[in-house]
Amino acid sequence: MAAELPIPIYTSLDQLYSDLGDAANHAVRWNALVEEFEARFGRKPAYIARAPGRVNLIGEHIDYALFGVLPAAVERDILIACAPRAGGADLDGGVRAQNVAAQYTPAEFAPARGAQDGQWFLAIDPKALRWESYVKAGYYGVLNTFFDDPAEGVPVPIDILVTGTVPAGSGLSSSAAMVVASTLAFLAANDRLAGMTKGRLVGMAVQNEIRVGVNSGGMDQAASVISTPASALHVSFYPRLHAAPTTLPTTRARASFVLANSRVTSQKAAHARTRYNLRVVETRAAARVLIHKLGLPLKAEDERPTLREVVGRLGSEPDEGWAPEDKSVLRAALRKALEVVDVLKPEGEHTGVTVETMAEWAGMDVGAFRRLFVDWIDVEATYFELYKRTRHVFEEALRVLAFRDACATFAASPSPSPAESEAVLKELGRLMDASMESCSTLYECSCPELDELTAIARRAGAYGSRLTGAGWGGCTVSLVAEAAVPAFIETLQREYAPYAGLEGAALAEVVFATKPSAGACGE
Ligand code: GLA
Repeated sequence: MAAELPIPIYTSLDQLYSDLGDAANHAVRWNALVEEFEARFGRKPAYIARAPGRVNLIGEHIDYALFGVLPAAVERDILIACAPRAGGADLDGGVRAQNVAAQYTPAEFAPARGAQDGQWFLAIDPKALRWESYVKAGYYGVLNTFFDDPAEGVPVPIDILVTGTVPAGSGLSSSAAMVVASTLAFLAANDRLAGMTKGRLVGMAVQNEIRVGVNSGGMDQAASVISTPASALHVSFYPRLHAAPTTLPTTRARASFVLANSRVTSQKAAHARTRYNLRVVETRAAARVLIHKLGLPLKAEDERPTLREVVGRLGSEPDEGWAPEDKSVLRAALRKALEVVDVLKPEGEHTGVTVETMAEWAGMDVGAFRRLFVDWIDVEATYFELYKRTRHVFEEALRVLAFRDACATFAASPSPSPAESEAVLKELGRLMDASMESCSTLYECSCPELDELTAIARRAGAYGSRLTGAGWGGCTVSLVAEAAVPAFIETLQREYAPYAGLEGAALAEVVFATKPSAGACGE
């Protein structure tokens, strides 16, 4: 299966470009990067790592509850050119990191082993992240995996040069692309790529990204690493990572996914305490409460279960998990879960509940509950919205299954009629709209600009439109008939106030059609 394949290493750019599809300007960018590296460091790079950003088509904020999601890699990517540097022992593992974009100033750093615990250390301050924090995050995983034991030697000193086209803070996962590309670059420079599977790289990148302050799920990293051209990737996480390419109807039904940037920067790490990480805590706490209230088995007193595990226990899932291809059992269990989700609704005026109520509902004393669920990651809230978040997660998980089924049914039709094409696009659009509504009202991860941009997109004829990624800013994704794309973009430009005055390249930077692209690779 896809996650067990090795990372593709290309020996010719032609082969790489054909895998990347018709993405423009790759040769120009790669060559320019090689030249720039030579100009700055006085020798050719030994390796170039590429990792794309991603668009999530559906399945928002459910990956960390371990439900399946449906992202696709985009053509925009991060490239890292690197070469080991000859140097003495004082340079062990030292990094000279530079970025082609002038606003990202050069950095030099070296990992050190802690005097007491012997663990590798690189300074990353999640409260003051810099571009190279993501490079360091990638490096950490390589250090801990391959240089944990001093007998394994020391990492080589290395020069790296980064360039990227994934806009930062746009919800297209520039951070995962940086961390994946950086992990690959350090692996390659230290000659540790042999035998590295895509699944293992995803696992390393997920762990590494947690170091930059967000307890994200594995969607972005899986999409960046495992995606294949022209398909979305159905990624599921329980009981283990599983990824299956899903053929999208867009080519045969002549439609495109159009990305539009709200121009509100989504600062995932800076607001993690009250937004992203709080959602992670709310869904975990909800899972524990459900287990207690529904009389389901608990594995250990200090278990912090996920909502996916709750659904499994509700449907008597075997330890090895339900077969990933058989979605009917999961669907049935999710429906059953939705029938009982009301147990999370409090009485009174608030939709949320306090720590004291959560503890009581979980059958735990407040101190123990607080330690296990609230002090685990840095979050801040008086009321925790267990009901709304859980309802979103279960319904969104069902929407992912419906989206995937609609794609599969269409793909199986040998020569779909225009009516069938129209019907599948309408169905996908309906699911995208429902997802947006739920993100806005139940998960509260939208913002007025995203609400407005998706409303304009619908009026401009999109089959469906929704925020993509963590939300609170960043991009929307809309499903649009191919022939209507130019007029669609014009309407967005006219009606979405923050686009006023943008033209040419500046406009192309904020609204563009995208094709699913290939995952991470190196050359
Ligand atoms: C961010 C995280 C992902 C996922 C999305 C929301 O992009 O990195 O793991 O949780 O938000 O779906």
